[in-house]
Amino acid sequence: MKTSGGSDAMKRRAGESAAAAVTDGDVVGLGTGSTAAHAIRRLGDRVDAGLDIRGVPTSFASRELAVEEAIPCLDLPEAVGPDARGIDLAIDGADQVATGSEGADNPVSGGALIKGGGAAHAREKLVDAAADRFLVVADPSKESPRLDRSVPVEVLPAGRTAVAAAIREADGEPTLRRAERKDGPVVTDNGNLVLDCAFGAIDAPAALAATLSEIPGVVEHGLFVGLADEVHVGTESGVRIDEA
Ligand code: A5P
Repeated sequence: MKTSGGSDAMKRRAGESAAAAVTDGDVVGLGTGSTAAHAIRRLGDRVDAGLDIRGVPTSFASRELAVEEAIPCLDLPEAVGPDARGIDLAIDGADQVATGSEGADNPVSGGALIKGGGAAHAREKLVDAAADRFLVVADPSKESPRLDRSVPVEVLPAGRTAVAAAIREADGEPTLRRAERKDGPVVTDNGNLVLDCAFGAIDAPAALAATLSEIPGVVEHGLFVGLADEVHVGTESGVRIDEA
């Protein structure tokens, strides 16, 4: 589910800061969501001014915006794979960014993300993981010492009850994501459903990620562990860039 904090100005500063890292000739992963949209718009301005790049959209929505901005695009198989061009850099938002906690009892390291508030995390993970550099764009409302938001899990429609049972076995509470202006569930760009799974505070994101990946019927989950390289955080007055 989406967070509501963070002003549009903060999101714009973050998106534009990451867009400034793109150079001529780059293949760029184009993330999904309101913060990544600012990066895509800024890249559109730079393409208009002569920048030569190829975008790799992570969703229907980011492709639509890239087309609107006249950014030439590659399909995922053209960009990712043994004979493909590769992705130089990906820019993508997040629903939560772990900053790390040094508590003596239970220290956790930073850099892990929860994504999928827009139900685009399956393609986002393909693109973000394939990129040489993955820049996260966020505002301070997304930061937390440890991850504790619900984890979106994309599931095959026929597997939703089996996956829900397995999530409960793993001490999670799954909720089928409902559409807002349609009766019934959210259906992803890939034709699947989303279970938002509450686990409370997540002390070991890598272990939970492995558990979720092993459940039959799970297409992809929204825990992104060890993927981010930099986090661009738009603030009231500027941008902070943290190594992840
Ligand atoms: C899309 O599924 C998500 O992973 C988004 O990247 C995430 O929800 C961040 O979106 P906002 O920038 O709109 O908060």
